[in-house]
Amino acid sequence: MERTFVMIKPDAVQRGLIGEIIHRFERRGLKIVAMKFMHVSEELAAKHYAAHKEKPFYRDLIDYITSGPVVAMVLEGTGAIATARTTMGATNPAQAAPGTIRADFSLEIGRNIVHGSDGEESAAAEIGLWFGDDIPGWERNTDKWIFE
Ligand code: TYD
Repeated sequence: MERTFVMIKPDAVQRGLIGEIIHRFERRGLKIVAMKFMHVSEELAAKHYAAHKEKPFYRDLIDYITSGPVVAMVLEGTGAIATARTTMGATNPAQAAPGTIRADFSLEIGRNIVHGSDGEESAAAEIGLWFGDDIPGWERNTDKWIFE
């Protein structure tokens, strides 16, 4: 079982898309094992996007991600890292396949509404950075929550 880090970015929160985005991951079968609504500090943003520090879009990216609250979460499931990425679509919404979150709800790369870890290494690092390493698992069993 694999875990990945996903963040609903400030533009999606402002546009009232939190439920819609979580719905898509949930329906796919990915399980939420951690989640928080939070404001991102400059320091956390810099650590999260450290790999992009020298890129021309870095300053705009940090301003964007710290511009309002986000929803950070850890999702678990078979191949969760790749599956979350395919559910999200390509980084640039203009190139994202129809039916993906980014294609269906966004137009520009600097407002692409959702983040997902891009590999095993970044998933482990991002989960640790945003939530720490001690996230308990839980079992899904619908019957016992319907029948007393
Ligand atoms: P990246 O890690 O390449 O993409 P992803 O989020 O799909 O893993 O880039 C991080 C974010 O930086 C991306 O979601 C949007 C922003 N970005 C730009 O604003 N302009 C760009 O040219 C690129 C490559 C990324």
